[in-house]
Amino acid sequence: MLKMKHFFLGLGAISLATLSMPDSGNSMIKPDPQEYPFAPSLLQYKKSAAEFTPPETCAECHPQQYEEWTGSLHALAFKDPIYQGELNKAVKAVGHDIARQCEGCHSPAGVVTGEIKKPGISGLSDMALNGVSCDICHSVSGHSGWQTPYHQPSNGSLILSPGKDTLAGPVLTKYGPYQPEAGCGEDFHECVEQPLHKKAELCANCHQVNHYDTQTPIESTYREWKDSQYNVHGIACQDCHMVDFDTFLRSADTMQKPQRGEFRHFFNGANFLIYALTEQAAKKAGDAELAANVHKKYEMAIARLQAAADLEVSPVYRDKKLAEIKVRVKNIRAGHNLPTSLTNIRQIWLEMTVRDQDGKMIMTTGTVDANGALPSEARLFNADGMGQGFHFAVDPWEIVSFSRQDTIPPKGYKDVYYGVSAPQTKGALVVDIKLRYRQAEQEVAHALLGAVPKDIDLAAIYGLTEMPDLPIVDMVSKSLKIAPTL
Ligand code: HEC
Ligand code: HEC
Ligand code: HEC
Ligand code: HEC
Ligand code: HEC
Repeated sequence: MLKMKHFFLGLGAISLATLSMPDSGNSMIKPDPQEYPFAPSLLQYKKSAAEFTPPETCAECHPQQYEEWTGSLHALAFKDPIYQGELNKAVKAVGHDIARQCEGCHSPAGVVTGEIKKPGISGLSDMALNGVSCDICHSVSGHSGWQTPYHQPSNGSLILSPGKDTLAGPVLTKYGPYQPEAGCGEDFHECVEQPLHKKAELCANCHQVNHYDTQTPIESTYREWKDSQYNVHGIACQDCHMVDFDTFLRSADTMQKPQRGEFRHFFNGANFLIYALTEQAAKKAGDAELAANVHKKYEMAIARLQAAADLEVSPVYRDKKLAEIKVRVKNIRAGHNLPTSLTNIRQIWLEMTVRDQDGKMIMTTGTVDANGALPSEARLFNADGMGQGFHFAVDPWEIVSFSRQDTIPPKGYKDVYYGVSAPQTKGALVVDIKLRYRQAEQEVAHALLGAVPKDIDLAAIYGLTEMPDLPIVDMVSKSLKIAPTL
């Protein structure tokens, strides 16, 4: 009887599903809470008696990977004060249920174990504090990206399986890119081959962020990469971000895939600011080793930014007189748009000055003022987010669309024309031009650091007693002479 009843119920469910077929493409707009208990994060957890392992334990047998990962943005993804400030704002604005979405990418273990209950860092385990640690990526048994609204990994759609129950007790399972050899994992863990580790789709689960409710793509690094020639040539995120600097140059320039043995766990990107803060904190705490480690990562991030783009400057004449200066900004080595991810926050812009031969300024654009603010006419390559009702918005829980998308596609360029009315002097004009980068507008960064939870004492940890000016990196600088007449 019981069986019959189930069958009947089952049939009912099938017919209902069929009736709602026209909508089924959108069925994930509200994730099914049975399948996704951590919604709006799409994390899934295969729970067993085998627990997560903190990175220090992995370090005992994998010291090199540990050193490379230490101080990386993945290691800092949860402790990052800029993140904690924004998380605090998110919780105040929309409540902690929504913040699970953030934590699902910034500290997945802290979410599935139910440990993280509010913004801040006090009272949390090593595993939760260490953000995207070894045992996040190496417990990935699969993903459910195919059933998301865009049918691709996003919003943390990982399946985490740190281990399994066996008759002999719990066994740790570590997923890696290679076919395991005899003795792999010694007696500590089983090794399971996971082809996903060679693919961008592993990274995409967290590097594709959609709005928690409307599902608008807000950070689209994966989508940008997918539409690029790097994808076509099989150059994945790992081939630029999990190798040393020279190997990254080779991947970007020749589309040649790195070999086993060339991969490194740096996850180095553009965020030199967080490395600088971490170095400051390490020095304050007397940890010279960590300070030296993150200093190398800081230099690597700056070198990467300086390798990403190029500028081409050429004069445009009309009636034999200089009329415009044309600047072509090229994205030569970023495997996605430039900038990517938080495109409405990151700032890349052109600064140009034109002087006559006596050094007198003829025009200037994109120069930050004494307060670090950019003039309104500065040419920025980024995006503007908007909320409901077509108003400007910055925070990810508000952005439902973009009112301006102006980033530079991979191996693509943008042209900018500056009108100049050159004086009729004989001598050449001196043009200085720079492509500049910073993590955020001064005001936005100050607001975030001002919002960090109380248990992160910026003065005690980082030695920050007042808000610092945000540093700017010159990605490209050129200086050239242009004749005012032909
Ligand atoms: C799908 C995964 C994902 C979700 C969900 C997510 N983030 Fe992130 N977040 C990222 C990634 C990846 C980056 C790094 C992007 C970069 O550096 O360009 C990031 C970067 C950030 C940064 C910039 C940190 C810095 O040092 O500049 C802040 C702030 C942030 N996230 C806050 C949040 C908040 C608050 C939420 C929830 C409303 C959230 N994130 C949800 C993946 C996610
Ligand atoms: C963001 C995800 C991520 C994190 C975090 C991460 N790994 Fe990996 N790991 C990978 C990927 C992807 C590869 C494959 C690289 C390649 O293609 O060789 C890999 C490869 C490895 C390998 C195999 C290397 C080889 O050639 O046999 C080991 C061992 C390893 N990781 C250990 C660690 C340890 C230990 C940590 C923490 C200190 C860690 N990983 C953190 C993603 C990650
Ligand atoms: C007691 C020693 C020991 C500990 C602790 C340990 N491993 Fe391993 N692991 C090994 C050995 C030995 C191998 C095989 C040789 C190698 O790749 O280094 C291995 C291989 C791996 C591989 C590569 C699998 C493949 O072939 O693709 C990954 C990934 C990995 N370990 C992850 C981890 C993670 C994550 C931790 C912490 C949760 C960890 N290991 C802790 C000994 C250990
Ligand atoms: C579990 C989620 C998760 C996975 C999986 C993941 N990342 Fe990340 N990643 C993050 C978060 C969160 C941040 C940002 C932390 C912050 O800024 O506070 C980040 C930061 C980064 C950065 C630094 C960005 C910068 O501004 O400097 C790089 C590079 C990066 N990830 C590459 C990768 C690659 C390559 C992979 C795949 C092998 C990957 N990530 C997989 C969550 C993830
Ligand atoms: C061809 C090399 C290449 C590939 C492939 C590549 N990247 Fe990058 N990535 C770069 C360079 C160069 C930068 C620094 C310039 C910039 O910020 O875009 C960068 C920056 C980043 C940043 C930091 C952006 C910021 O301003 O905070 C993140 C996050 C990131 N990459 C993630 C990824 C992910 C995820 C993938 C795969 C989907 C990927 N990258 C593929 C070269 C690459």
